[in-house]
Parts: sequence; structure tokens; C-alpha cells
Amino acid sequence: MDFKSFQEDIASIRSRDPAAHSWLEVILCYPGLHALLIYRLAHWCWGKGLCLLGRVLSHIGKVFTGIEIHPGATVGRRLFIDHGTGVVIGETAIIGDDVTLYHGVTLGGTSLHKGKRHPTLEDGVIVGSGAQVLGPITVGKGARIGANAVVLTEVPPGATMVGIPARMVLRKAKEGEPTFCAYGLEDENLPDPVARAVDSLRAQVGALLERVGDLEAELEGTKSKNGTSRRKPRMIVAHQGEDEEEKSLSASSQQ
Ligand SMILES: CC(C)(COP(=O)(O)OP(=O)(O)OC[C@H]1O[C@@H](n2cnc3c(N)ncnc32)[C@H](O)[C@@H]1OP(=O)(O)O)[C@@H](O)C(=O)NCCC(=O)NCCS
Repeated sequence: MDFKSFQEDIASIRSRDPAAHSWLEVILCYPGLHALLIYRLAHWCWGKGLCLLGRVLSHIGKVFTGIEIHPGATVGRRLFIDHGTGVVIGETAIIGDDVTLYHGVTLGGTSLHKGKRHPTLEDGVIVGSGAQVLGPITVGKGARIGANAVVLTEVPPGATMVGIPARMVLRKAKEGEPTFCAYGLEDENLPDPVARAVDSLRAQVGALLERVGDLEAELEGTKSKNGTSRRKPRMIVAHQGEDEEEKSLSASSQQ
């Protein structure tokens, strides 16, 4: 471990946790950072064949931080484990860069065979508190796992998985984005898919109302050269908290 990666770790925690106010606070009060430092030492020992020493260091890390990272696991740069207590990362787990794990997350196995039996998390994955990601599955780049989800299947890049067993609720696979969204929540500046769908429906309803107005004008035999003699139906708009309902279409057809 070098000083540069230590600096990177601290900077990434500050950028991903609004509660982190200073470098000193991060160094002193973030068990995720402490666990990462101990893991790197343990992993180095593991790589040198000092497996028992690696396990002992890992155990010491668990006692002090509540976070268990097996020294055989592969962890990329700028892993942020927020809060941390109860996090378990198995021996054959692979974690990419800029991954965020909240407390209670398990990257666990589902079999006893000695090969690859733990998940792979690609870059930028966010795993919510209490989530369990089990088996030698891959969670694609930028995917988000909801709090308390149990993920047992492959997760495509950018997907959001929730529930038990986890199901996909939204797929968002855009290169270059998103940057980190604290707690895995949507960035309010990103386009909201529901709002876009509603806008599209409103546009279509508006076009239909125009067309109905034209047809009514034709039926009534009115001249509509300037469009002034047309009675255009208005769109029905319901405001929150008001019981407002305009029935201009039916009213106009009755006249
Ligand atoms: C999964 C998550 C990333 C989704 O955030 P989002 O993109 O803003 O999605 P929404 O809140 O719009 O939810 C989308 C749907 O998933 C459901 N959902 C969201 N989170 C869920 C969860 N953890 N478990 C089950 N369902 C969940 C919502 O009810 C909604 O369902 P609907 O479409 O039927 O109404 C977020 O809810 C989450 O769990 N983040 C982890 C936060 C966390 O662990 N914080 C710990 C801080 S200490």
C-alpha cells in the first residue's frame, strides 16, 4: 500500500459520504478505512504465502472494525465500506474500483467447493445495507443493489436490483455515468424515466385533443381559417389536493 492510494481512499470517502467533514475525521472515525488498511497488509501476506499470518491479521481487523475481509479476496481501488459493521467479503470475491458497500453486506458463497464461489463486483457498484450477494455471479459495472436484497443471479451493468430474491427494477447502462449517487439514490439531475413517460403521454393527449377539436369543427360546419372559431377541448389537469376535473370534451359535445 502506498501513500497515494491512502490519499485516494480518504478523498473517495469524503466525496461519497456527506457526513465526512474532514480528512482527520475520516482517518479516525471510519472503520471501513481501517479495515481496508488491515486487509491490504493481510492480502500482501497472503500473496507471499504467509496465509496464517494473513488470516490472523484479517481476524484482528474484524475484531476492531466489525468488517471481515478475507485476505484472499481481490479488492480494487477506492473501496468505500460505510459504517461497516457486519460486512463479510469471502475468499474468492473480486471487487472492482470505486465500489461502495454499506453495513451488513455479505459477498458470500453458496457452495463448499474450493474454486471461485463468491461474487465479482465490477467498477462503481453500490450495495445497500444488509444486502446479500451470493455465489460466483457478476454484478455489472455501475449496478445498484437495494438494501436487504438477496442477489442470486447475474446482474447486468447499470441495473438496480431489489427484494428477495432480487429482481430488476430499472436498468441504466450508460457509459461514463452515473458518478456516485449517495445511498444508491437517483441523482435528481438525471432524467427521471417516470417523468419522461408522463411528459410523452401528455404530449400525445394534447395532439389527440387538437385532432378532436378539428373534427368537431368540421362536423359543425364552422369555418376555421384562423382557427379562432374552433372550440378546442382543454386538457384535463388534476392538481394535488384539489378535486378539479374539467369535462370540456363531453361539455363541448353536448353543446
Ligand atoms: C435500491 C435503491 C438503490 C433504489 O433507489 P432508486 O433508484 O431511487 O429507486 P426507487 O426508490 O425509485 O425505487 C424503485 C422501486 O424499487 C422499490 N425499492 C427501492 N428500494 C428497495 C429495497 N431496498 N427493497 C425493496 N424494494 C425497493 C421501490 O419501492 C420502487 O418500487 P415500485 O416501482 O414498485 O414503486 C435504493 O432504494 C436503496 O435501497 N439504496 C440503498 C440505500 C442504503 O442502503 N442506505 C444505507 C445508508 S446507511
